[in-house]
Order: sequence, then C-alpha cells, then structure tokens
Amino acid sequence: MSNRMWGGRFGAGPDVIMEEINASIGYDKRFYAQDVAGSVAHATMLAETGILTAEDRDAIIKGLEAVKAEIEQGSFNFSRALEDIHMNIEARLKELVGEPAGRLHTARSRNDQVATDFKLYVRDAIDMLIGQVRTLQKAFLDRAEAEANTVMPGFTHLQSAQPVTFGHHMLAYVEMLGRDAGRLEDARKRLNESPLGAAALAGTSFPIDRHMTAEALGFDRPAANSLDAVSDRDFVMETVAACAICAVHLSRFAEELVIWSTPQFGFVQLSDKFSTGSSIMPQKRNPDAAELIRAKPGRVLGALTSIMTVMKGLPLAYSKDMQEDKEMTFDALDSLSLALAAMTGMVGDLTVNREKMKAAAGAGFATATDLADWLVRVANVPFRDAHHITGTLVAKAEEKGCDLDGLTIEDFKAVDERLDARAFKVLSVEASVSSRTSFGGTAPDNVRTQVETWRTALASKDA
Ligand code: ARG
Repeated sequence: MSNRMWGGRFGAGPDVIMEEINASIGYDKRFYAQDVAGSVAHATMLAETGILTAEDRDAIIKGLEAVKAEIEQGSFNFSRALEDIHMNIEARLKELVGEPAGRLHTARSRNDQVATDFKLYVRDAIDMLIGQVRTLQKAFLDRAEAEANTVMPGFTHLQSAQPVTFGHHMLAYVEMLGRDAGRLEDARKRLNESPLGAAALAGTSFPIDRHMTAEALGFDRPAANSLDAVSDRDFVMETVAACAICAVHLSRFAEELVIWSTPQFGFVQLSDKFSTGSSIMPQKRNPDAAELIRAKPGRVLGALTSIMTVMKGLPLAYSKDMQEDKEMTFDALDSLSLALAAMTGMVGDLTVNREKMKAAAGAGFATATDLADWLVRVANVPFRDAHHITGTLVAKAEEKGCDLDGLTIEDFKAVDERLDARAFKVLSVEASVSSRTSFGGTAPDNVRTQVETWRTALASKDA
C-alpha cells in the first residue's frame, strides 16, 4: 500500500529498507509538543485569516490536544510507515476528527514545519541549559566564598608556579561559564525567527499572517526569506558550537578533579555519591563522573562536526539530508545537560583538604617571584636583576635541601647585600596571595568582592 499522506501518485509502497532509511519517527517523536504547538498556532491563524472555518479550527485544536494527551500517556501508536512526527500526528488527527484534519496542512509544508519544531525544541533546550549553567556557577561561587583564604599552588605547565587561592581558582570557572551562558543567549536571539508559513520553499498564495503565528509561538518575527527559512540550520550549528565550548570548559575542571583527587595530590576528595569503587582493588576510589565529563566534548564536538558536514555544500532549499541534523544534536544537548548536572553535584559535595593544598603551595620555591618583587619594590633593583638574584638563592636552597625560608640571613647577604630580614616576610604563601590585590588578582579580598559581584549579577538574571 502506498503512503496515505503523500502516496497519491505511487502504485506501490516503499521497500522495507526504504522505509527504514527514510523514517525519522524513532527520534523526532521528541518534537511532539512543539509540533502540536505549531499546528495549533497555524490552525488559529488560518481561521483568523478566513482560510479555515471556526468549526474546523475548533475540531483541529481539540483533536491535537487529544493526540498530545495520548502521546503523554503512552497510548499513542507511533508508526514507522508514517515516517515522522508530523505525519504521525496528522494521521492520528484524521482518525480522531475526520475531514477537518485534512485542511490543517493548507499553506504549510513539512519543510517549514520541521524547521519550526526544531527551533522551538532547541530554544527550550537553550533555556534549560542556561539555567543549569547558572546553577553550576552558583555552586562554584559557594565554594569560592568558603575557600577565599585557602591557598593552593597555581600551575603553569602543571608545574607549581605561584600560590593562588582556591576561591580564585573556582572563580575562573564562574567566568568561563558566564561566557558560555552568554553564547547560548546569543544563539537564542538569532534563532528566534519563525520559519512557519515559508511553506515548502516559496511561500504560499494563501493570505496567511506569518506575524501572527510567529507571535503565538514566542518568536520575535517571521524569518524574512522563505528559502532561507526552510534551509537554515545555523541555529543548530551555533547552539551545538556553544555547547561544545561549554563541554570543553567542564572537561578542564573534570581533569583537575581527576588529578587533585589522586592520593599523590590529595587536594580534594570526591564524595561517595560521585565516586565508584573497583571490583578487584578494594582501596580504590575512582572519579568516574569526572572522567565521563572529561570525555563529553568528544560527543558534543562529534555532533558539531556531524551537523556542519551534513549542511556543507547543500543546495537550497530543503534536502532530505537535513533529517540527519537531529540525532547527534539531541545527543549533544543531552550530554551537556547531564555533564552540567553531574558537575554541579560534584562541586557541591567535594571535600577540600586545605592542609595538603597549603603544603603543596609552599613547595617548589613557589614564592620566588615574591622575593624578586620585594627586591624591585624595596631595594629598587631592576626586575631582571632581581630575577637573577632570586634564582641564585633558589639554587642555594636546592643545594642545602631546604625551602627559601630555610636559608639564613647570611645566605641572603652572601648573594646580595641589599637583601635584609624583611625579605623573609614575603616568603609565606599567605603573604604571597594577600599581596596580589591587582584587579583580577588572587588575593582573598578580591575573591570575596568578585563573589559578591557575581551573586548580584546572577540575582538580576533570576529576577
Ligand atoms: N522528517 C523530515 C525531516 O526531519 C521532515 C521534513 C520532510 N520534508 C520533505 N519534504 N520530505 O527533515
């Protein structure tokens, strides 16, 4: 039997393999709510513009609500022969309300329908992800506040560089996530033009009102060009790109958690809720959630590569290639959402080992720069010379097997006369971080100020 939605000119139905490759219902059933909302807006507009009678509109809308309820209750029978969510819903509508159902598709096509559904879906996903990003920012802010004074080694090249505060380190992620939310907001703004009414590709001869449907669906305006409206998937590429960057950010903290939670580092302990044991080594405590978050960019970037590759070189307007835009996108959105939730849980639950962090912060001559800065500030030594003098002291300390503050004043004087007892004061890690009060620097007071600034900014977003 040929397809009852478009099979008028076909004598026979599709080959089973054709049906399998052609069907998208397995995944685009996710669009059911968006599809119903789009159809309700369309039917309402058709009646408003005199294209549909009020009775037909009422029958259609009532039927669509019934279909939606069936899907939500799980009693809806999805059919692969009906290809996709659009035709599944319309076919069921026909069964429920009869002839008026056949009038719903006036002045539209599945091409503008799927673009509309997908935009509505991605828009909802963006809103959810932005909320999750903000929640994670708040978890980092709580940590930053609690650990404003906690000193840890700051790294470059993963080598101890200079002491920083753990609060400051947390705030670095708050900044990254702030930009991630901003990118999602930008994507949402550009996405928010309605494709509905572009019809198959050329617009329609019916006197439709696209402004009306755009408004009903929460779009800012109708998309201005019908060809662009049905062939645009920028909103997917841009959103998934923003997701990929966010996933990369999460993976960086995930990696730090993996490193910091090793017994060798011991800076943090992940809670039982976010660790796993080994089936053979009873002593083990594995950071599986962190590792999985570290891996998520692989999937999200895969989705981005996939959608860009599908779209590349496609002639206008719609081509069926564009059905391959969905599965990976769903996976990317789901993966990021799960990663954000897991990261939020881990940040909230982890235990910070302040002593270990502090001990590590002091090791490896981490305050050598502070000593060089002291020579510049107090003894007016040019920085390059100060660097050399301090380097000589580091070598001496290494030779004696002690830290810089284990050297004697005689050791200091032997290297440079301009050094005196006051120089010892700058060698503590607390003094080091407290002195770094330049804007954006690691000092505990800076951290507290920045936490307040972010809290105010986030509260205004919530309002
Ligand atoms: N299932 C299709 C998709 O996801 C809907 C649009 C089909 N349009 C068409 N002209 N065959 O892209």
